[in-house]
Amino acid sequence: MVASKLIKYKHVLCCGLVEMNALSNGTESKEELKYIKRTTNLTLNGTAVFQQFKDPISSTYTYLLGDKATGECILIDPVIERIDHDMSKMKELHLSPIIAINTHCHADHITSTGKMKTMVPKLKSYISKASGADADIHLIHGEEIVWANGTRTLKAIATPGHTDGCMSFVDLELGCVFTGDCLLIDGCGRTDFQGGSSKTLYQSVHNELFALDAGTIVYPGHDYKGRVRSTIGHESKYNSRLTKTLPEYVDLMKNLGLSLPKKLDVAVPANMKCGV
Ligand SMILES: [Fe+2]
Repeated sequence: MVASKLIKYKHVLCCGLVEMNALSNGTESKEELKYIKRTTNLTLNGTAVFQQFKDPISSTYTYLLGDKATGECILIDPVIERIDHDMSKMKELHLSPIIAINTHCHADHITSTGKMKTMVPKLKSYISKASGADADIHLIHGEEIVWANGTRTLKAIATPGHTDGCMSFVDLELGCVFTGDCLLIDGCGRTDFQGGSSKTLYQSVHNELFALDAGTIVYPGHDYKGRVRSTIGHESKYNSRLTKTLPEYVDLMKNLGLSLPKKLDVAVPANMKCGV
């Protein structure tokens, strides 16, 4: 039954106008499959456009959420080195960016939001108030970004822990969440600088993200192994870090022994000013 449903999605997607990939690992529950079907149908029958881009240098995912009816789009976590790619992709899709969101003040790459604002004057940059970074709009927990003539909504959820200003964004219509570096696929962001706290990240994930419907599709800020999405249900059952107890998780994060990101000293000061 599951296999036949997945083949059907694959067929639908082959004729699709937009890039909305179906989950295909065969482990999804009935509830998760219901969400995938809903998302796919909405995308094909409605006016939604979805694209996931990857910066190969930092393995950062940038997301494009578009609306064909208004010609508007939102970018989440765009990367400076990819600005030409992102601009030409939007042109190809006949979309113009109105909002560029950073899920947090990144330490591993520079955002393109500041530079893009010089190219598209109506574009507004968004980041959390708690980040302390410059932007046109500063978001607080629970705030809703309503766009596309009121037909689309992105809900901002404060999910600190990787940094003290991290936010995740729930797309209420598409049934997905953009988790930045808080929740990654089978992992999470590091918690050892920029106001990071392993205890806080654990609480953000368990209290805010794992509280979402199990079928909610997870789009992370990075993946270093080529994976593109997961679900809340899958991560709450199988994430090898966040299914541990809090003391076990805090201990694990304390002993990761990671070296600092190469661009830390350049990226953080730049990103505090929209990347410019
Ligand atoms: Fe980060």
